[in-house]
Amino acid sequence: MTPLVDQHRRRRQMTPRHLLMCRPSHFGVEYSINPWMHPEKPCDRDLALAQWERLHELYASLGHHVDVIEPIAGLPDMVFAANGATVVDGKVLGARFRHAERTAEGPAYLSWFRDKGFETLLWPEFINEGEGDYLLVGRRILAGTGFRTDRRSHAEAQEFFGLPVTGLTLVNPSHYHLDTALSVLSDDEIMYYPDAFSPGSRAVLGEMFPDAVQASHEDAAAFGLNAFSDGFNVILPEAATGLAAELESRGFRPIGVDLSELLKAGGSAKCCTLELRAS
Ligand code: ARG
Repeated sequence: MTPLVDQHRRRRQMTPRHLLMCRPSHFGVEYSINPWMHPEKPCDRDLALAQWERLHELYASLGHHVDVIEPIAGLPDMVFAANGATVVDGKVLGARFRHAERTAEGPAYLSWFRDKGFETLLWPEFINEGEGDYLLVGRRILAGTGFRTDRRSHAEAQEFFGLPVTGLTLVNPSHYHLDTALSVLSDDEIMYYPDAFSPGSRAVLGEMFPDAVQASHEDAAAFGLNAFSDGFNVILPEAATGLAAELESRGFRPIGVDLSELLKAGGSAKCCTLELRAS
């Protein structure tokens, strides 16, 4: 452990967050837009609901404020609230989805923000799938591209938020969103799966985060990087045991969750969670 990581380890502290989630009342795997989705295989909506409720309760019990958006019939992936927008400093960058099956979610999420009184909203020109591909680390934004979010959206986000945006290219279809390959742990710490990125992007991550936790193939395949951290508690799929051990040694409190039904659509804890950052 480097002296810097050790320094961080002693000072871990959670900060309460404002989150948005969407109950999987209409969840199902009805089409396939990523390699995890097999519509022909059975999927249990009641179990998905029960697993989601546990995640919802967990956030509340940890002291986070959780809002929920009304799910819409015919939008089975709407449970993945992370994709609904990107919110930093109270500014809302709307999501414009790549696939026709999800396009209606963008305006639905944006209206929720309008109704709640958020004033600075942008309906984007370019495709971006919200926090699926945009992750805030301190005052910098890491931005995925390669499968979903258009590279041109990165400039749009930088201009809108007035924060530096670093583009990262994803190359492994199983990790089609940035939040399936990289997770933000604190204001200056991340964990990621190197093989999900192009060689250049891997080098950029090495430059920016030399002390980052690097996930094994097994943990990445268990969706372990689809994690939510409040600075101390890290909620992640329970199967990612290697990551949990590493997080613990760095002073975090890993909390494993079972979201097996949602994984059938290619999503887990972080995908179900959108963070609303006030100004
Ligand atoms: N079935 C959804 C899709 O392929 C899953 C989205 C997962 N969300 C996420 N933030 N990675 O679009």
